[in-house]
Amino acid sequence: MFHFIINSKNYKEASGPSAVVLGGIVSELAEELNARKSDVRLYLAPPVFSISEISRNYPSLFLLAQHLDPQSAGSTTGHLVPEIAKLSGARGSLLNHSEHRIPKEQIEKSVGLLRDLGMTSAVCARDAGEVGEYARFSPDFIAIEPPELIGSGHAVSKERPELISDSKSALDRALEKEQTTRLLCGAGIVDATDVKRAVELGSSGILVASGVIKSSNWKDSIRSLVGGFPA
Ligand code: G3P
Repeated sequence: MFHFIINSKNYKEASGPSAVVLGGIVSELAEELNARKSDVRLYLAPPVFSISEISRNYPSLFLLAQHLDPQSAGSTTGHLVPEIAKLSGARGSLLNHSEHRIPKEQIEKSVGLLRDLGMTSAVCARDAGEVGEYARFSPDFIAIEPPELIGSGHAVSKERPELISDSKSALDRALEKEQTTRLLCGAGIVDATDVKRAVELGSSGILVASGVIKSSNWKDSIRSLVGGFPA
């Protein structure tokens, strides 16, 4: 199985009513992939304010929060609480994205809380050293993203291929037998050749933001990126 996370960040063109439009497109494409028994699974990480509405409209869509706090339901004003995210339709969360780094202890706690709730965790890392460290927490995914290539249109898989292969080795070394954490990569991915290369280097999937959100046609750009995964 290959995993394709679309992170719409706080791009205005994919926020508010447009977040729901994007949700509809991703949901339609995910259903198409399902129908033809594709090995590619689509995820959408929209702004947290839109999760409820997207989930109500497209209940089968796999929605991730872009960040959650390691806090419980109750008197935790203003925190993004995993349990409440789940009630609102999120099935998991990105954690420690380059644009929202958090302390290691917080990553560990959040991964644990998500696991207890049956939710998916995708922890972002900047280098192979961090991949090895975060593997100890057993998230579902670790996503390697070099910050300098984010939003650049120059793909990690072509500009820094060694980062993906080193991360894969670091992950394989760190994982104990029963752990199933998979490696994803992101930053600058814009076309199918970037995706193909990422998979060849050992990635089980991709995280993409601007390559989809800033494109002139969301559906076409997602379709063409999906085309980079093995058929
Ligand atoms: O989370 C995905 C992201 O940081 C990569 O961004 O715009 O380079 O696809 P982008």
